[in-house]
Amino acid sequence: MSEPMIRLEHVSKTFPGSDDPAVGDLSLEVPEGEIVVLVGPSGCGKTTTLKMINRIIEPTSGSIQVAGIDAVDTEPHILRRQIGYVIQQTGLFPHRTIGQNIATVPRLLGWEKPRIEERVAELIELVGLEIEMAERYPVELSGGQQQRVGVARALAADPPVLLMDEPFGAVDPIVRTRLQEELLGLQERVKKTIVFVTHDIDEAIRLGDRVAILNVGGVLEQFGPPEEILRDPANDFVAEFLGTDRGLKRLSLISIRAVSLDTGPVVAPGDPIAAAHHVAERYGVDWIAVGSRNYLHGWLPLDQLAGMDSVPSDGLMYFKTSLSADASLKEALDAVVSSRTRVAAVFDGDRYLGMLTADRISEEIVQ
Ligand SMILES: Nc1ncnc2c1ncn2[C@@H]1O[C@H](COP(=O)(O)OP(=O)(O)O)[C@@H](O)[C@H]1O
Ligand SMILES: [Mg+2]
Repeated sequence: MSEPMIRLEHVSKTFPGSDDPAVGDLSLEVPEGEIVVLVGPSGCGKTTTLKMINRIIEPTSGSIQVAGIDAVDTEPHILRRQIGYVIQQTGLFPHRTIGQNIATVPRLLGWEKPRIEERVAELIELVGLEIEMAERYPVELSGGQQQRVGVARALAADPPVLLMDEPFGAVDPIVRTRLQEELLGLQERVKKTIVFVTHDIDEAIRLGDRVAILNVGGVLEQFGPPEEILRDPANDFVAEFLGTDRGLKRLSLISIRAVSLDTGPVVAPGDPIAAAHHVAERYGVDWIAVGSRNYLHGWLPLDQLAGMDSVPSDGLMYFKTSLSADASLKEALDAVVSSRTRVAAVFDGDRYLGMLTADRISEEIVQ
């Protein structure tokens, strides 16, 4: 691994008047350009860790390096220029407009007015807001929009590092999912090094290139890519924190594209009925799909073929549960268990790629 963007070595923090450390002895490396998620129960030291990275809180012992330089050797105001910070309640200044909020750091840095205006417009677009909103005040925006402004403000001076502390905690689940998708899309474009804090394991799995599972006292129980943690939890604490649906969570990380698909019981229109029965028997199903190479017309229960000479091309049922190859195996499983035929037909646009069964899907997680 190349030099990490952020390196914590044996970092601890004991608050005055407290016997137990909020963070005991934490070592962690955050590679450049990745999203590392710190996840763990409330009070385990996530916020404290984040605030030590930008020196809002000074560590009791240990060292923290950002871009190879010791954080203690960097003036806090210079350090914070390299580090954007997004918090849960957005921390927007209520009496400043959205535009003024986003311009906070560039103004502190003494940028010329036209440059600031240009950057504000660029950021408003980048986070998916309308330029007209620049003149509004935070209360005039929805919770989700305010969060987007918080992200825009943190990105204003183009810092290499972003720290995000439960940024989507206060919005409803639908908006949260949108914001998560937007963050991943944004990260594709801006490639920051992001440390993201959450207590929501699903959010961690969804967003993290790597996930750090923390226990009370800032104890690092496991650190790795989400797929690896789900496949092989280091101990009971991690397993319990991941939840009883660990297998399903893993499925949500695997794309259908990564799996080889079976053609399924497909016959062509005009094929003899005997061929249809033969194919259905081979697959152990009581139905057939009708199609040609790369195309599926639909499906029929075998008993509807009674009295026909050959496989028909019309009067077929549609596959209600057709899936895009970009969907996850979790979505595929949901389609399978909801379908009459117990399979999901997978398409790339109009092109038929093959079928997935529950057996085939479970093979992917029981390896
Ligand atoms: N400023 C502070 N003074 C004293 N104790 C604090 C302070 N900030 C946090 N703590 C304590 O440190 C522990 C970790 O807190 P925190 O980092 O906020 O946890 P998390 O973000 O994981 O919920 C908690 O026990 C909390 O009460
Ligand atoms: Mg916190």
